[in-house]
Amino acid sequence: MARDVVRSGRLAGERAGDIARYLSSSWADRWIGEADLLVDMAHVLMLGQQGIIGDEHVRALLQGLVRLHDDGLPESVYDPVYEDVHAGIETHLTAMVGEEAGGRLHIGRSRNDEVATCMRLRLRDELLALADEVCALRRVLTEIASAHEESVMPGFTHLQHAQPTTLAHHMLAYASAFERDWGRLIDAYGRVNRSPLGAAAFASTGYPIDRESTAARLGFSDLVENSMDAVSGRDFALEPLSAAAVLMATASRLADELVLWSSSLVGFVELDDAYCSTSSIMPQKKNPDTLELLRAKAASVAGELGAALGIVKGLPQAYNRDLQELSPHLWRGIDEARTSVRILTGAVGTARFETERMAAQAGLGGSTATELADTLVREFGLPFRTAHHVVARAVREGRLDLAGLEAAGVTMAGLSLVERGLDQARVDRALDPRESVRVRGAPGGPAPAAVRAQLETLSAGLRRDGMFIDQEKKRVETAIDGLLASAREVIG
Ligand code: ARG
Repeated sequence: MARDVVRSGRLAGERAGDIARYLSSSWADRWIGEADLLVDMAHVLMLGQQGIIGDEHVRALLQGLVRLHDDGLPESVYDPVYEDVHAGIETHLTAMVGEEAGGRLHIGRSRNDEVATCMRLRLRDELLALADEVCALRRVLTEIASAHEESVMPGFTHLQHAQPTTLAHHMLAYASAFERDWGRLIDAYGRVNRSPLGAAAFASTGYPIDRESTAARLGFSDLVENSMDAVSGRDFALEPLSAAAVLMATASRLADELVLWSSSLVGFVELDDAYCSTSSIMPQKKNPDTLELLRAKAASVAGELGAALGIVKGLPQAYNRDLQELSPHLWRGIDEARTSVRILTGAVGTARFETERMAAQAGLGGSTATELADTLVREFGLPFRTAHHVVARAVREGRLDLAGLEAAGVTMAGLSLVERGLDQARVDRALDPRESVRVRGAPGGPAPAAVRAQLETLSAGLRRDGMFIDQEKKRVETAIDGLLASAREVIG
């Protein structure tokens, strides 16, 4: 194993294994190893273009870097004898191309701007991939909704039957929340996609570098201009982590409802076996384990965010090694979110909704009492609070029928509803859950027409967001292809 090129001048001896492992970020740097090669290529091309290093060194360095890119990084660059993959790659590359060229790779930069650039590069891809998964989930939810505009079910507050709604309306509640979660990820993406390269240790450099050119070659939309901010800021990681934690909170709520709905206590959904486990002792069991794990992983992602916030909040400018410890939290959090969203999409997409059972439950627990009170307001001239009192008293007496309402009207308001024209047919209609849903057609409500309007808006948003992701992926891919093509062109 070659010695760490970074260390040999200043410090004596090698570190004992446990100290080296404690210091090294190599294990977590697997996330950014490939990105580091691209950053190196962009940097070398820029050094050549600016006349900072000669053509023969540019060629030798790019030959080595392209070979490493094509063949894949050797395992040795991740050896914890190196403080990180940046030192690992520089050491390995120098062994490949010689000190004359290899020793020029790090001109005008530091690992501080290097690591921040690599993280942003990788995070950019991760965010697009995660946002893509969120689109797939949104799509499945809107598909279920469009098939279930008429599928009435009970809606709950405090987990008590509250008012009837539809499965479509319920699914679109989640589709709406996931649309915002998507937006938060993409907002963060805009601030991730900026280049800190050229900030060097923190005070930039005296070489005539061209920061715009490395930024453009790497497909960044702009610079992180202030060089101290560029190396020390990690809000670019906090923001996506926080967006992922919020996204996971939404995902966890949906998972939680599916767990509840799949219980024989409720019986609203039958999950596909693929997402379930059984018991080692109870032969009858079919447990919704994947969704339970998702619920727990939402807590883990929130924990990654908490840890990351804790790491940065007390750090002075500029770079401090604490920052290295933040990266694994970022990668784990984003990765957990992506896997979880994919699993959830599969679980929801393959679930069988027990619409008959939902319909049978829709009117239970007095869930149409609000509509009954509203009917007394709209058609029989009562103030809402009076109508609320009358219906509430009928519920309390266990007599939610014409006779019960008549008695409650006399007791609570001193009036006869029958005299005002209330009859059994009108009471029955008000107590019908479908009727309750049908009249709730205000924007955003569960009435089929209102749900169709929501579906249209959400579907349009989905198309727009899908196009944005495709465009961004293409833009990034074109930049990286261009970078590789430029590197190959130089080496001939
Ligand atoms: N492995 C380091 C990190 O992840 C790279 C930067 C090291 N810089 C330094 N001054 N020690 O942050």
